[in-house]
Amino acid sequence: MIEAATLAAIADRWGTPCYVYDAQGMRARHDELKAALRGVDHRIHYAVKANSNLGVLALFHELGTGFDIVSGGELARVLEVGGDAADVVFSGVGKRADEIDFALKAGVGCFNVESAAELARIEARAELLGRAAPISLRVNPQVDPQTHPYIATGLRESKFGVAMEDAPALYRRASASEHLRVVGIDCHIGSQIQTWAPFREAGQRILELRDTLAADGIDIEHVDLGGGLGVAYDDDAALDVAAYGQGLRELLGNQKVTLLLEPGRYLVANNGLLLTRVEYLKPGFKNFAIVDAAMNDLLRPALYQAYHHIERVGAPGADALDGSWNIVGPICESGDFLAHDRDLTVAAGDLLAVHSAGAYGMSQASNYNSRGRAPEVLVDAGEPRLIRARETLNDLLGPERAALAGG
Ligand code: LLP
Repeated sequence: MIEAATLAAIADRWGTPCYVYDAQGMRARHDELKAALRGVDHRIHYAVKANSNLGVLALFHELGTGFDIVSGGELARVLEVGGDAADVVFSGVGKRADEIDFALKAGVGCFNVESAAELARIEARAELLGRAAPISLRVNPQVDPQTHPYIATGLRESKFGVAMEDAPALYRRASASEHLRVVGIDCHIGSQIQTWAPFREAGQRILELRDTLAADGIDIEHVDLGGGLGVAYDDDAALDVAAYGQGLRELLGNQKVTLLLEPGRYLVANNGLLLTRVEYLKPGFKNFAIVDAAMNDLLRPALYQAYHHIERVGAPGADALDGSWNIVGPICESGDFLAHDRDLTVAAGDLLAVHSAGAYGMSQASNYNSRGRAPEVLVDAGEPRLIRARETLNDLLGPERAALAGG
């Protein structure tokens, strides 16, 4: 959606590597999901971890979404853009006491609780603060989402959630506590799921649990089916969101319960790209195009062997070579690659766009090899705006200098 001339101007102005996002595209995805869910009593909680830039969070806040968070840091981000803690669900297997306190004081909408031990800790913190913590249990419906093993989370062997069979007893315990308030049931079976079927299976099991609880006199207000809506990275089939919506309509029928969803990738992945410039060509037994972005900027290829489409921006330079290229970064590891065997006509100095980098791109970036993290630019109706400056050497060295000087 963003024009080559705009990308070239962004690269000139803010340098490369640089993340570029499309605001209109994000709004369009949000609207598409809302349209698919028409007739379903639902709330969307954008999963902050997918792309947690304040500019992006502000955009979703303006659209009226709630948020799904997994840390106190993410809660601080939501509050920073004027988000209401009541519209936040707090997921994650390892919530610290200070994070629980922060969320309780802010008035978070729901804790998605992942173990008996965590339930006990939340109860104890709530008692200390003289409050009742709203909770839902994240259960493990044991559904295979048929996705990469690192991002499948609803199987028996995963670290997430509580076993289905343990849930009723935990709910009874929670509903008997004056410092816990049962509000929902939650699950999240994985990410990048391409078909409706695993969601249906998970949803059915959640609704069965809801009926079991109702028979016990425990009524819940919402069921949360998590995120996981898959997108197209290549020619692979993306989740058909209309079919997903239709499935949810049929699943929920006229049940008196609010549906919560926690999509991250779906809203942002294909509305972001990573701009990078070719530093050197190194043709040979294998052809390498060495670019200025690396695994510290975009970890997905190294970590999941993920495919990201790569395209040259604008005309090739005068010395361009045709070939099949491994697009690699400057980091001292063979695992530092963005792509293998891509047919491109490319010259040193050319600008490349790494597509589908709006989700789990910048949010998984690091300072490995003492590389400052890339800037982020949000383009709205053709107008680019810097939403995060490139990290400077001072940003990198400052905390160590300060600590060393203070020690
Ligand atoms: N809710 C919970 C509890 C989650 O753990 C996640 C993602 C989401 C929602 C959002 O899932 P999404 O709609 O984005 O699929 N770094 C990996 C993805 C990890 C997903 C972790 N959990 C990647 O780059 O593919």
